[in-house]
Amino acid sequence: MSQRTLVLLKPDAVRRGLIGEIVGRIERKAGWTISALELRTLDRETLEQHYAEHVGRPFYEPLLEFMTSGPAVVMVVEGERVIEGMRALAGPTDPIAAAPGSIRGDFGTIVRENLIHASDSEESSEREVKIFFPAHS
Ligand code: PPS
Repeated sequence: MSQRTLVLLKPDAVRRGLIGEIVGRIERKAGWTISALELRTLDRETLEQHYAEHVGRPFYEPLLEFMTSGPAVVMVVEGERVIEGMRALAGPTDPIAAAPGSIRGDFGTIVRENLIHASDSEESSEREVKIFFPAHS
């Protein structure tokens, strides 16, 4: 089943020079295509929409502060079961729990600075692509 997913390389990934490494892993997945990609400093309003379900959680403000702390890479990746696949490539939220071979398992340090976001369902992906790329078909 072909799908699309919204992927963010968070400011820690950009600061640490990991764009090429992470984008390379995505490009090497057979059958996946990057259909949008931009280096962009995210504004609070966009992130408030993106993280709306987490308002009031203890990590909400630190997360927004971190996500606005420098440029991020915003992209749309398309392909067979890409939503599940990108989540597996990223690894679980907590880098300590992430297996070697996953992006967070190989490069992650702490939960807040966990390098990458990938949509968790088809519903989230449709919502998130519209937030970051309103003109994407
Ligand atoms: S939940 O409860 O499963 O919905 O939460 P989870 O998916 O684990 O996390 C939601 C997003 O919040 C980020 N997060 C944090 N940021 C900063 N500090 C702390 N402690 C923290 N805990 C979770 C987490 O990385 C998720 O962001 P995205 O961008 O979706 O990866």
